[in-house]
Amino acid sequence: MIIIGCGYIGRLLGRKLVADGAAVTGVVRSAESAALLPPLGIAPLRLDLLQDPPARLATAHADVFHLAPPPGAGREDPLTARLIDAFAAQGQPRRVVYVGTTGVYGDCRGEWVDETRRPAPTADRALRRWDAEERLRAWSAATGGELVILRVAGIYACDRLPIARIESGQPVVSAAEAPWSNRIHAADLVDICVAAMERAPTGAVYNVCDGEPSTMTDYFLRVAAAAGLPAPPQIPLAEAPDKVSAGMLSYLRESRRLSNHKLIQELGVRLRYPNLEAGLAGCFGGA
Ligand SMILES: NC(=O)c1ccc[n+]([C@@H]2O[C@H](COP(=O)([O-])OP(=O)(O)OC[C@H]3O[C@@H](n4cnc5c(N)ncnc54)[C@H](OP(=O)(O)O)[C@@H]3O)[C@@H](O)[C@H]2O)c1
Repeated sequence: MIIIGCGYIGRLLGRKLVADGAAVTGVVRSAESAALLPPLGIAPLRLDLLQDPPARLATAHADVFHLAPPPGAGREDPLTARLIDAFAAQGQPRRVVYVGTTGVYGDCRGEWVDETRRPAPTADRALRRWDAEERLRAWSAATGGELVILRVAGIYACDRLPIARIESGQPVVSAAEAPWSNRIHAADLVDICVAAMERAPTGAVYNVCDGEPSTMTDYFLRVAAAAGLPAPPQIPLAEAPDKVSAGMLSYLRESRRLSNHKLIQELGVRLRYPNLEAGLAGCFGGA
């Protein structure tokens, strides 16, 4: 098995696959990231997919998890384009599970969204993800390679909470005006990646989220309360452009409530953390 982009989630995923008896190669760019893999039983392969020839990437008949994000600018994903070229040169994989994002739906004005919703990405970060999906679909259609697309919501885990942001006293948008957002616990995402590789029908797309959307403000307030930190100050939405980062502002322009019905019903996933309360209780004990 090959994990393209074997970072935070890739390491959790690789460790699980190795424990289940698989031989796993993790592709990363940096020496620092590569050094984290052998202790987990993952064979590191250092390769900058945007620049290096993929000579040692043994993709023929492989199970490939694609977790590498697109570069930070533009509306296309050249990394995925080059990965598909690498498949042609090195051998076509059996199946690709792509970890994308729910950003492809764009702003849905707080409506419930399932996988039948037509994607309408507007932010460049979301257009890059849509480009990756489209390229992979074209690859699958042309080669017969199997493909599963996971549209992943905001990832959290005990060591991946916005503690530093809360401690710095940065404001959040007032509860009444805050957009809807969605989350998934990292441990559940790993289980879902494995299930998608093992048993999802090819061509399937799944929303990957815990099924209990809340507002961004609710998320920050609940993490602060669970961690015993002061609640962040609330500001009117109209003040956000002056007071929050451009990245956060881009997320504040989108509001959607994602359904995970297909994930649960079709893929038969049983979430360990079906809501934020369960996830935070796992971190802080009874939050
Ligand atoms: N944050 C969220 O809430 C969220 C939500 C939905 C989806 N996602 C996506 O989920 C995926 C996994 O997330 P994560 O937290 O595990 O990300 P991560 O820790 O940043 O890992 C990404 C990995 O991709 C590698 N990579 C990046 N560019 C590369 C290139 N040009 N060539 C080869 N390797 C490259 C990085 O290598 P180096 O470490 O060596 O740079 C890193 O190991 C990402 O695509 C992320 O965008 C995240």
